[in-house]
Amino acid sequence: MRFSSRIQTELAPNEYSRIVEEKRARNLAIWDLSISNPTLAGLDYPLEEIREAMADGAKHFYQPDPRGLLAARSAVAGYYHERGIGLSPDSIVLTSGTSEAYSFLFKLLCTPGKSILYPKPSYPLVPLIAELEGVTAAPYALSNEDWRWDLAALFGARTPGARVVVAVSPNNPTGSMLTAEDLRELSGFCAAHRLALIVDEVFLDYPSPARAKSVVSSAGNPDSLTFTLGGLSKACGLPQMKLAWIAVSGPERDTREALARLEFIADAFLSVGTPVQRAAPVLLDLGAQVREQIRQRVDANEENLKKILGGVPGVTLFPRDGGWYSVVELPAEMDDEGFAIRLLMEQSVIVQPGYMFDMEDAQAVIVSLLAPPEMFQEGIARISVLLRE
Ligand SMILES: Cc1ncc(COP(=O)(O)O)c(C=O)c1O
Repeated sequence: MRFSSRIQTELAPNEYSRIVEEKRARNLAIWDLSISNPTLAGLDYPLEEIREAMADGAKHFYQPDPRGLLAARSAVAGYYHERGIGLSPDSIVLTSGTSEAYSFLFKLLCTPGKSILYPKPSYPLVPLIAELEGVTAAPYALSNEDWRWDLAALFGARTPGARVVVAVSPNNPTGSMLTAEDLRELSGFCAAHRLALIVDEVFLDYPSPARAKSVVSSAGNPDSLTFTLGGLSKACGLPQMKLAWIAVSGPERDTREALARLEFIADAFLSVGTPVQRAAPVLLDLGAQVREQIRQRVDANEENLKKILGGVPGVTLFPRDGGWYSVVELPAEMDDEGFAIRLLMEQSVIVQPGYMFDMEDAQAVIVSLLAPPEMFQEGIARISVLLRE
């Protein structure tokens, strides 16, 4: 059979994933510090209210709106209103997840063969989804001192075929967050070169205590055509609901044209289910309870991380502006994959090696601050044992 060349990724699991699968299959005790699924993190969900909201949502007839039902889009506008940002429900398009949002936007903005500029290190699905859309993904490096935006590197990475700049803020896994000045400069660059800006803000609600008062969202950014991504998956700890959104802003004519074209794309899929759209106002409300638990857990785990690993010679813990991951940079002579494999074999701890995030210049492992506190503490203590050997 002649398959498309869109899938160029190696499909066999890598060495590390293979060993993790083997360990899991043997049901051995494991300290999993790679957990990113909040529904499996031992949080206390208001399950009865969620059930009622979904049951109520299922009662309605099917009358789809390609952009998403107005009640749901209004609820998303309300979410931004609570954060001091005024958005019209008409500037919002719903999708069944952030991945689908990326895919719609790459269809909207890139003819096959054109390219997107994406941050490195960052969320690995961005280049992968671009590849699936027949779009070239060209990395721009974040600063290798603190993984914040190095705008000179981004400006230097632009090619004539570039159509889009992607920023992830807070970034996964580095936790770096755009500042107001970064956003202004990025928008100026995008406007000057007729590039669209996509800002993935799924972790917006998890700033570190130090950054909580200076959170910057690109939603409503008027300076260049901007697509801000968010969703219930992280904002409410409800990935199973499959509801995310794109908030479109920028110069009036570009915004209007982009929204009309996005509606055309979304109409071909109509992928978001009616029950979850009907339930969205209640889910966004209830989500606040889950969000608060995640915030407290992430902050407490980070404190423990600093206490346990802070004094280990050669180890650097990078300051986290936001998100729920922490990057632990290993002593210079260590290799991330080798360390992660030893950690799993000798201490039964799962982490994510940095290379999985294209972290080429640093030997680091990523730990999830979402893990249940007892598991986190024990897992980090075990990491410390191996690091001190
Ligand atoms: C930066 C980033 N964006 C998006 C997602 C996925 O969001 P969704 O569940 O809405 O597809 C993730 C998941 O980990 C992520 O890290």
